[in-house]
Amino acid sequence: MNFIITTPLYYVNDKPHLGSVYTTIICDSIARYKRLVGEKVIFITGVDEHGLKIQRTAIEKGVSPEDHCDEISNIFKKNWLDWDITFDKFIRTTSKKHEKIVSEFYKRVKASNDIYMGDQKGWYCVGCEEFKENPNNSPNQKCPIHNKNLEWKNESNLFFRLSKYQNSIEKLIEDPEFIQPKERRNEIVNFVAKGLKDFSISRTNLNWGIKVPNEENHTFYVWFDALLGYLSAICLDEINYSLNQSIKLGWPANIHLIGKDILRFHAIYWPAMLMSAGIDPPKKIIGHGFLTREGQKMGKSLGNILDPDLLISKYGKESVRWYLLKDIALGSDGDFQDRRFVDIINNDLANTIGNLLNRTTSMSRKWFKNKTPSLIDNNSNELSDISKNTVKKYHKYFNNYNIDKASIEILNLAIKTNLYLNKREPWVLIKNEDNINDVKLIIYNVLESTRIIGLLLKPILPELSTKILIQLGEINYINNNWKNQLEWGLLPEDNFLPLPKPIINKLDYE
Ligand code: MSP
Repeated sequence: MNFIITTPLYYVNDKPHLGSVYTTIICDSIARYKRLVGEKVIFITGVDEHGLKIQRTAIEKGVSPEDHCDEISNIFKKNWLDWDITFDKFIRTTSKKHEKIVSEFYKRVKASNDIYMGDQKGWYCVGCEEFKENPNNSPNQKCPIHNKNLEWKNESNLFFRLSKYQNSIEKLIEDPEFIQPKERRNEIVNFVAKGLKDFSISRTNLNWGIKVPNEENHTFYVWFDALLGYLSAICLDEINYSLNQSIKLGWPANIHLIGKDILRFHAIYWPAMLMSAGIDPPKKIIGHGFLTREGQKMGKSLGNILDPDLLISKYGKESVRWYLLKDIALGSDGDFQDRRFVDIINNDLANTIGNLLNRTTSMSRKWFKNKTPSLIDNNSNELSDISKNTVKKYHKYFNNYNIDKASIEILNLAIKTNLYLNKREPWVLIKNEDNINDVKLIIYNVLESTRIIGLLLKPILPELSTKILIQLGEINYINNNWKNQLEWGLLPEDNFLPLPKPIINKLDYE
């Protein structure tokens, strides 16, 4: 069975911002973890290229929408490679293959008698590409998310009979596992309880979209097009390009990871559309929180946007990953504070984990001929118990997508290992030859605990993980399954240790 995880398909009105980097990094970490425990992962990302917002952006730039989309899509792809994102599929909604899937899907929904022509009147936010509920009728009213004026629309559009799926959606969201976290689920439950209304799925007067078959002048509403990207991505590289092929290859998706602003589309509209087409809904929707900067909403007008490219060059991608994954609980809003960022990286990675590795490998090299110690007996001890407990909790947290808690477990193991070392004081014991076996055991235990730390970091900070394991002597495991490598006691004895090098540089305040 494939494990399918998706990011949202990002609008190409602009290059990636920290919000899109955040979603993508979380998905990457989950995808890496799932691969490490032996699952066959399909990690999907991509771009949402149609609609009024993109059309207007291209016009403002004085280029064709096609050229604009090519340019920004390439920037997204390059950015994900710069961030070491291990996506398997990158879907563009302007691809011919995707268009085919949208038409096929539409035909299924139409055959279920869920499409009709109606009048669409209402206040529209081009930023959200969404009609807003119950705005007052005055002009100059703004979208609370984009802070831009809503636009009045009055068109004949095709509608999707969402109301027909009221009971099915209620039943679907009853399962507490379907929408996470709990607070996000409550928002949706309350919304559905008010009664679902049909929504329009086509636009007239909009060229930049996929043409609706047999409906002149109608293009698909950008959400009725983009959500299908999740299905078309699965069979993107197949010769047999069809909905059935995507289903055969593993649909339904295991997780759609999205920001809280687009939860309604994913947890209500999308499952209902799928049910209408006779396709299973996704298994889980996780709605993450929003990032602010120094307590303020990020925005172009405020001039406080964090440029991801700049963050990489200033701090390095793994520092940013650690901050976003460890410091923000999935589902809660998070604040990016420069000072806090520098403190966390210096304390957690450079001081706690980096120094532990550095000083222990140095001691081992000095006292045991550049090698790990050899032991007389390696029975369980205080540190092995702590480490085993950490590994157990780490898996539990990762399986619940609590990456923050899993990261804190790793850090706590490093803190406890440092304490163990400081309490035992091998540098005092070594002065008396009678203590040599005790010293060997202490150093072995600390190195072993550091090996476990290095392994546990793999899905979170892959580069740092590799650096740690190299410093511990590039261990050749006979059984190379990652989960089994986490067993206590696999650090080889009497094994060469390379010259210690700092694995991460301390950051300075600006
Ligand atoms: N194109 C739609 C998604 C279609 S999925 C079939 C879209 N794109 S988006 O580019 O506007 O947003 C993509 C994601 O970025 C959303 O999940 C959104 O929540 C997230 N974020 C945008 N700003 C954000 C922050 N400041 N912080 C965290 N995430 C934020 O919506």
